[in-house]
Amino acid sequence: MPEKIPVKTMEEKLQTIITSYPNSKREDLIPILQKIQEEFNYLPQEAIYAVSKELEMPASKVYSIASFYNLFRFQAIGKYHIRVCNGTACHLSKSSDLLREIKKELKIESGHATNNGLFSLETVPCMGACHLSPVVRINNTYHTKVDSDQIKSIIDEIKKEEDL
Ligand code: FES
Repeated sequence: MPEKIPVKTMEEKLQTIITSYPNSKREDLIPILQKIQEEFNYLPQEAIYAVSKELEMPASKVYSIASFYNLFRFQAIGKYHIRVCNGTACHLSKSSDLLREIKKELKIESGHATNNGLFSLETVPCMGACHLSPVVRINNTYHTKVDSDQIKSIIDEIKKEEDL
């Protein structure tokens, strides 16, 4: 399981980030959320509430704006963080099929993690290896020119290693 961030530490860090935008307005929403994600690797629920209070916006609005962008994660990343490239070359090489396969295998959506904290999934823009598309990165390993069957085997292999 990903390590839980102590509440006090989280509150202090959120306050430091939020107060670095004095007199913040709605236009600051995305930059503030980006800073928070840089700090925690995802947007904790507490962050949504803290930002909503600061910007005087309903938390549901902050969440719906944040979830509109593929940029943000709403759960801590898993032990195996899977990034599926959604850049043009990868998209043309059917990265959407890979994404569908991974979602089916792990039963999670992009931006989320499995309940056991083992896997998390994210769609990302070009990873700079277009000539090897489609590209999937799992932690620091790049899997290039992969198809759905290969991705399924890679995930099955990890599950086997983890005794799942
Ligand atoms: S579009 Fe996927 S690596 Fe460039």
